[in-house]
Amino acid sequence: MPGPGHYLIGEEEKQEILDVLEGGWLFRYGDPDDSDFKAKVWTLEQEFANYTGAKYCVAVASGTAALLAAMAAVEIGPGDEVIVPGFTFIASMSSVVYSRAIPVLAEVDESLTLNPDDVEARITPHTKAILAVHMLGNPCKLDRLQEIADKHGLLLIEDAAQANGGRYRGKHLGTIGQVGIYSLNVYKTISAGDGGVVVTDDERLYRRAFAFHDQGHSPARQGVEVGQRPLIGLNLRMNELTAAVALAQLRKMDDLLATLRRNKTRLKEHLRRELPGLGFREINDEEGECCTLLVVVLPSPEQAAALGQKLDTGTAYDSGWHNYNLMENILGKVTVTGEGCPFTCPYYRGQVEYHAGMLPQTDDILRRSVVIPIGVYDKGLATGLGPPPMATVEQVDEFAEQFVSLAREVL
Ligand SMILES: Cc1ncc(COP(=O)(O)O)c(C=O)c1O
Repeated sequence: MPGPGHYLIGEEEKQEILDVLEGGWLFRYGDPDDSDFKAKVWTLEQEFANYTGAKYCVAVASGTAALLAAMAAVEIGPGDEVIVPGFTFIASMSSVVYSRAIPVLAEVDESLTLNPDDVEARITPHTKAILAVHMLGNPCKLDRLQEIADKHGLLLIEDAAQANGGRYRGKHLGTIGQVGIYSLNVYKTISAGDGGVVVTDDERLYRRAFAFHDQGHSPARQGVEVGQRPLIGLNLRMNELTAAVALAQLRKMDDLLATLRRNKTRLKEHLRRELPGLGFREINDEEGECCTLLVVVLPSPEQAAALGQKLDTGTAYDSGWHNYNLMENILGKVTVTGEGCPFTCPYYRGQVEYHAGMLPQTDDILRRSVVIPIGVYDKGLATGLGPPPMATVEQVDEFAEQFVSLAREVL
């Protein structure tokens, strides 16, 4: 089952799609003087910038594409080290690898986002950036990460793929570091099936991200060559149909988040009242988190495993697509000068190894955590039973009672 945006697909999305099909232009570029060309991608970029408060925005084909364009924008390159959390989606690592740089894995803390102290401990003369991944809709400790980045002259890149619509200290996630990204895949707050977005306040970075996503071209090209190309790019473009759906979804974002917030708050209060022995993950900004998931933390891994089983899932440790321990395609691989696949980096000076158990704090918190879906239902995130999508308060209460009786058997 997917994320909350999926359940809100309706008339608005249909109208936006029909608008594009009736005009017949499916490509992001068209003649601005032709009324049949609806410029949905361009409009999405403007509306996304308005919504987030970012100065510039580039819509692309996926969150992974957005990460690649962001890395290219800030010039992550051969031999650079980028600090990433050990609990994240693999694209946060692969985008570094395909920028010919080195992902350096760091611990997450009780918030399941980067532990700032551990980040600082892993800085070397080759560190270029910190990739702050706002995992499961929870903002990272951005104040501390920004402070560390400033102190050591590093870039702060935000991966807000799982936290589109979230905020930190009132500012939209993605707009606090030099560059930020969102995903529009089906497990995210809003969805267009696939799709991604890059945001930045820096015009130079915008021009580089835009160029990277489209063969080196300048923004607003409308099919016409303009100016010098700052770099060699690829084709990571979004098309008009995707943008049409994304536009309709973006306009539903605030209502959607309000429903998730009401439901999560209600469930959490109920569990807090009825199950004093149950813990919750730390939330770094109560008002800004997306409320897509509720993570409960148990005293022991055994209790968490038993509760997970009752909920027809496992613990957060079992989220195979997000726990570094279970990413067989990175484990055991060593980056050596000129050797090693897929982490070959001919410019790297030494070795980097990824092995199970290398992040004991992360392993401990993942083993004691169980993930309850509030709006995002994703086996890849180890979600099991939860209230139904966009639940009514009665449905939330019904699930809360079911959860309490299951949890009492293990607590
Ligand atoms: C944290 C994180 N970063 C990046 C991505 C990549 O997004 P996409 O699937 O749109 O390429 C995802 C997607 O699951 C994600 O969860």
